[in-house]
Amino acid sequence: MIRSIDDLQLAGKRVFIRVDFNVPLEGKRITDDTRIREALPTIRKALKEGAKVILASHLGRPKGADPKLSLEPVAEHLSKLLGAEHEVLQADDCIGDGVAKMAKELKPGQVLMLENLRFHAEEEKNDEGFAKALAALCDVYVNDAFGTAHRAHASTAGMVPFVKEKACGLLIHKELEQLGKLVKGAEKPFVAVLGGAKVSDKIKVIENLLPKVDALLVGGAMAYTFLKAQGVEVGKSRVEIDKIDLAGRLLDSAKRLGVQLVLPMDHIAGESPDEKAKPVEVHERTIPPALMGLDIGIKTRDNFRQHIRGARTVLWNGPMGLFEVPAFSEGTRQVAQAMAANREAQTVVGGGDSAAAVNEFGLASKMTHVSTGGGASLEFLEGRELPGIKALEV
Ligand code: 3PG
Repeated sequence: MIRSIDDLQLAGKRVFIRVDFNVPLEGKRITDDTRIREALPTIRKALKEGAKVILASHLGRPKGADPKLSLEPVAEHLSKLLGAEHEVLQADDCIGDGVAKMAKELKPGQVLMLENLRFHAEEEKNDEGFAKALAALCDVYVNDAFGTAHRAHASTAGMVPFVKEKACGLLIHKELEQLGKLVKGAEKPFVAVLGGAKVSDKIKVIENLLPKVDALLVGGAMAYTFLKAQGVEVGKSRVEIDKIDLAGRLLDSAKRLGVQLVLPMDHIAGESPDEKAKPVEVHERTIPPALMGLDIGIKTRDNFRQHIRGARTVLWNGPMGLFEVPAFSEGTRQVAQAMAANREAQTVVGGGDSAAAVNEFGLASKMTHVSTGGGASLEFLEGRELPGIKALEV
């Protein structure tokens, strides 16, 4: 059983909230603040109840302290989002005497943003001394960093036993509820749309979802490995040679389970995977030798749209092509639009690239749920136990 922040008394307590503020930055500019906004309900709730809030996150993958990966711009942005009512103090580290003093002197309604946890290698090593130093800052531990729940680090797992009270935040609660429905008791027909570059990244998800879905629609570069397994020539398309047999086995298991595994029947191809490539419509499954598939074709889009339209549950993870290049983004856009248009279904977008795509298309608010986890949502859908969630069990 996991308690939620709603079950705790927070007034006057120092509440350590592990958030995932690992946001994309260009210099000091945050290019997508979704993860910060998604953590606001938990932060606001704690503040409203009179807690003294300590926020901790990692940012990027620094090797030691690196000013370019300071959480300073994030703290400034958060301060704007919270408004003048709540002061956001910034610490120049996440442990040490100075930080301990700031945490001790914190007043109800104030926020203390710690510096990037990964400036200390001990965070990722899940070092006990470091975990204890973090735990000493607070009375209550709340984890709302769903995006980091697949990491067994000091701030997501190690420190938890050293704090008296623990709970998940509202974001983790929502993620577990929405993603949980997909792996247990999704309303049928259940259609999963998987894309992205590599079959190898999605094998476990496919294996775990095949017995649960009615149809699995495969796009993106990984589709070419599946087509190759069916003996289709795919030109210069990206194929994982060492995964062709596996793709064949997945096709066989789908057949055995009576699940439709739907592959592209046409393509938008180009000579190279970049913006210089001229899009060429290929009207059949076979791709000519000089070309590579870079998006699903027009008939395939129609077919995918029909499957999505008839579903009561749709999960989507991974783009249908090279969506960063406008000429090859239409397949990805149409999957997102078809999901947005199906108001009867539970529509869930797994994080990472597909979440970035729905944000870019302005369709995020039309989905039932857009996960803030990339790796974490994939591991959850693989049926794996996430260390950050396990640590919260009472
Ligand atoms: C993510 O962006 O997926 C999470 O913040 C985890 O980051 P990591 O892959 O560097 O651990």
